[in-house]
Amino acid sequence: ATEAEEKDLVIIGGGVAGYVAAIKAGQAGLKVACIEKRGALGGTCLNVGCIPSKSLLNNSHLYHTILHDTKNRGIEVGDVKLNLQQMMKAKETSVSGLTKGIEFLFKKNNVEYIKGTGAFADEHTVAVNLIDGGETSVRGKNIIIATGSEATPFPGLTIDEKRVVTSTGAIALKEVPKKMVVIGGGIIGLEMGSVWSRLGAEVTVVEFLGQIGGPGMDTEISKMTQKILQKQGMKFKLNTKVTKGDDSGDTIKISVEAAKGGKEETLDADVVLVAIGRRPYTAGLGVENIGLETDERGRLVIDQEYRTKHPHIRVIGDCTFGPMLAHKAEEEAVAAVEFITKNYGHVNYNAIPSVMYTHPEVAWVGQTEAEVKNSGVKYNVGSFPFSANSRAKTNLDTEGIVKFIADAETDRILGIHIVGPNAGEMIAEGTLALEYGASSEDVARTSHAHPTLA
Ligand code: FAD
Ligand code: NAI
Repeated sequence: ATEAEEKDLVIIGGGVAGYVAAIKAGQAGLKVACIEKRGALGGTCLNVGCIPSKSLLNNSHLYHTILHDTKNRGIEVGDVKLNLQQMMKAKETSVSGLTKGIEFLFKKNNVEYIKGTGAFADEHTVAVNLIDGGETSVRGKNIIIATGSEATPFPGLTIDEKRVVTSTGAIALKEVPKKMVVIGGGIIGLEMGSVWSRLGAEVTVVEFLGQIGGPGMDTEISKMTQKILQKQGMKFKLNTKVTKGDDSGDTIKISVEAAKGGKEETLDADVVLVAIGRRPYTAGLGVENIGLETDERGRLVIDQEYRTKHPHIRVIGDCTFGPMLAHKAEEEAVAAVEFITKNYGHVNYNAIPSVMYTHPEVAWVGQTEAEVKNSGVKYNVGSFPFSANSRAKTNLDTEGIVKFIADAETDRILGIHIVGPNAGEMIAEGTLALEYGASSEDVARTSHAHPTLA
């Protein structure tokens, strides 16, 4: 074997965390290599996550609107037909444009792109099994692990990505299922459930907890969202657990019962989506070869500066602590590279927005009302319905509310929660307000153009 080449920084994983770190470090003048095994850059987010799901959400919403919401707007349409193949093609065009864009940015910023699977040979050396065959290795003065996450499997159900799917299969179904059962009413369940419900599937969501939306969604907002999605045709079984699944027959049988014990019921499905959360992905990385620690949920353990017990090895993105979100991974990438090049870096974990891209969208930043209540801080809540907003009225799109939670003494904003049209864009202002330590009065006294949703 040839002597491994030495770089200033070696990054394992070319997802959002990895590619942003690579480009940032390249711009700072470091000699960088980024190892990615899937054959395309952009990771989960660009290839099978954020981007393809948003393409399908947008186009299925348009289809649903044209089918059900044109007459009252004075638009007469003729035959409306779904061309699922073309909808998937549009998705693929968006994805490939973006992943190729990153390859271009790698070249522009002198990042070496190594296509293969990386594993630690020692604390400074990563051995790479190349996709095209053969092996190589690369040494790093600094190493960043950014290997991301994978869907948590459901015990007893074998994922084939055709009938029993994770989000990866759910963004690529060949036909609209008649009946779809979604296990887990979190963000993936509700986004992908929305897509197939709009395209004609009868969707039932089974959720273990008493509310939908996954961790972080304010209870009042969650309840309102559930009502809206129910009106669109989605069915929900809350406080319910799946006891077993049987996919041996033509239809899949999913047995469910009340979480606290109760009578069993069987649901039939053509497709079952398993969406019970994601877990860090470090398989085959050889972290055991260099003694790196993981916690009880498989997350690689790091300190405030993203360092493992070997200080030149850092970890960012989904495979370590914090919310599994692309923009969180991106912020950490910038901070980790700044720690390497400048010795300081910072991410404000209190001001990371969340957006669920259903219709209407749900978006929030900061603490939920329950969290504020538990913290013992005295607080005020103010909310306003879109049904009284002039732009929402003219758009005939008035479902939802905006809810502010502020400190009762100082008026400092503690949390902002929105369910409503364009919530995902509007939360940017809320995030800025929180980042700047604004009071709710600061926002109220800021002039907002009329008529707008903002
Ligand atoms: P990943 O994107 O998972 O990238 C890790 C990369 O490392 C992968 O490409 C993998 O192939 C590679 N890799 C792993 N091991 C090795 C190895 N040993 N050698 C070489 N390469 C390796 N987040 C949002 O903020 N907004 C959204 O709208 C959103 N939508 C989503 C929709 C879905 C369906 C899913 C599944 C996720 C969504 N997410 C969304 C979450 C988002 O995708 C992740 O938070 C983000 O991708 C994390 O980035 P990452 O770089 O840490 O990991
Ligand atoms: P999630 O954590 O959002 O939701 C999982 C849901 O499944 C929870 O409500 C949980 O109570 C429930 N659950 C767990 N075990 C269960 C069981 N046995 N039976 C029934 N219900 C069960 O996870 P999800 O939806 O899989 O998404 C994973 C992550 O991907 C998200 O947390 C998010 O970080 C990211 N993501 C972000 C998106 C966005 O930002 N728009 C879109 C999609 C994914």
